[in-house]
Amino acid sequence: MGISDRRLQYETDGLDLDDLLPNPVDLLIRWHDQAEAAGAAEPNAMVLSTLNEDGHPDGRVVLARDISDVGITFYSNRESAKGQQIARDQRASATFAWLQLHRSVRVQGSIALASDEVSDAYFASRPRSSQIGAWASPQSEVIGTRLELDERVAEIEEQFDGQDVPRPPYWGGYILSIDSIEFWQGRPSRLHDRFRYSRHGNVWRAVRLAP
Ligand SMILES: Cc1cc2nc3c(=O)[nH]c(=O)nc-3n(C[C@H](O)[C@H](O)[C@H](O)COP(=O)(O)O)c2cc1C
Repeated sequence: MGISDRRLQYETDGLDLDDLLPNPVDLLIRWHDQAEAAGAAEPNAMVLSTLNEDGHPDGRVVLARDISDVGITFYSNRESAKGQQIARDQRASATFAWLQLHRSVRVQGSIALASDEVSDAYFASRPRSSQIGAWASPQSEVIGTRLELDERVAEIEEQFDGQDVPRPPYWGGYILSIDSIEFWQGRPSRLHDRFRYSRHGNVWRAVRLAP
């Protein structure tokens, strides 16, 4: 079947205003947990889009590590392409796609740095090999060969032999605030349900959008 012929009918239960929770953060967590229960491979994966120095959108997948009223926390190298983009312009969006459930969520907000305490605690919880990787890989820089990277890993392993691996100063958490958030539920005949919440002071308001 060619990709132009590929068509899935979304026979799912609809989403109505009554199904919405007053706080969309609770609904986002519920949808994440339902995606996990439905067997989504990495239900916390989201496409994070930021703006490059020409104002061009740039998206890549990262893993959400916490979702709360404060926002969505993820971790990365702060000298990477995304790190440099965020330092210049904090506006960003995140898009989750849970295709088993015919669902997607998109968030708009701005990104702040997570505290050193939060970043340290998360870094300390990572497997040692990932901690070594954070030191060894100059994320987003051009490198020569795979061998170069493997040699760098061996050097770092030797450097920290017998000790805990500290968090690199250029690596840490980011928190994307949830300023507006849209929930999309696929429905038959492409007449999907869409609800967008936006924040009005301390209160969230939701509107239905045409599919
Ligand atoms: C499933 C998946 C999860 C990922 N999780 C992260 C992550 O949490 N943090 C991260 O920095 N990169 C993660 N990556 C790699 C990024 O997509 C990207 O390659 C990397 O961050 C460099 O992006 P940049 O050059 O725009 O900074 C993940 C990739 C995939 C496919």
